Amino acid sequence: MKWTPKAVEIAREAGARLREFFAQGVVTEYKGDVDLVTVADWTVEKLIRTRLGEVFPEHGMYGEEGTRERMEQEFRWYIDPLDGTTNFAHGFPVFCVSLGLEFRGELIAGVVYDPTRDELFAAAKGSGTFLNGERVQVSKVSNLAETLTGTGFPSHKRHKNPNIYFYHVITLRTHGVRRAGSAALDLANVACGRLDAFWEFNLNPWDTAAGVVLVEEAGGKVSCYDGSEWRLDSKETLASNGLVHQSMIDVMAQIFEGRDLPQLPSPVEYR
Ligand code: IPD
Ligand code: CA
Ligand code: CA
Repeated sequence: MKWTPKAVEIAREAGARLREFFAQGVVTEYKGDVDLVTVADWTVEKLIRTRLGEVFPEHGMYGEEGTRERMEQEFRWYIDPLDGTTNFAHGFPVFCVSLGLEFRGELIAGVVYDPTRDELFAAAKGSGTFLNGERVQVSKVSNLAETLTGTGFPSHKRHKNPNIYFYHVITLRTHGVRRAGSAALDLANVACGRLDAFWEFNLNPWDTAAGVVLVEEAGGKVSCYDGSEWRLDSKETLASNGLVHQSMIDVMAQIFEGRDLPQLPSPVEYR
């Protein structure tokens, strides 16, 4: 697909800028009560907006840091210049650039670049998913008890987030839940088989657009928590290798109904 190589170039350039900012350290500001933002988020979104505008002057753009251009166009880019800002601001090296492309309401390409590991994930509809040029696939684990899963906790209304119950139960039913702090990288990690499943409430289109294409093109599945069709504006994202998808849906239904919630063991019992 002709758009992907350009997006790869732009993501690499953006990632190199993030790497420089990360090395020098940046001042952190607050967007809301707890939502962090840095000069790196703004500078890199501006860079991506300029570059995409140069190569695809007809395309629309929707970015986390305020870019809204030509949104009536059939082609639209969803831009997260820095996914993992909290990690970045704390010096924790897990973050990425995420660029997803939609055409007439369908996601058709995704690029996620992790500048600290120099890992570039790219996928185009119908052509598979690639990590640094090598084809990747989702994992083959089919038993939920043997999975490694991932999730995230948005900063928005964090004291009201129901996800801690999901985190609790799914931790006890699997090899574990990783909370790495970058939803786009979590999805990329499902695509290449490092994680078997991932879920999160209230993600935004710039977090998911690219990663969803990566997962689907690597043979995985994405839906809402009840298995219904996932859309860019869905408030629930469940991604998996496909084989454990139904088991995840079943566990989530139980948690929503409040069934089988384990009692908290006492620290004394745990010794
Ligand atoms: C956040 C990260 C995090 C997820 C949050 C996102 P940001 O994006 O993806 O993993 O838990 O929901 O908002 O703010 O760092 O771009
Ligand atoms: Ca994000
Ligand atoms: Ca961001």
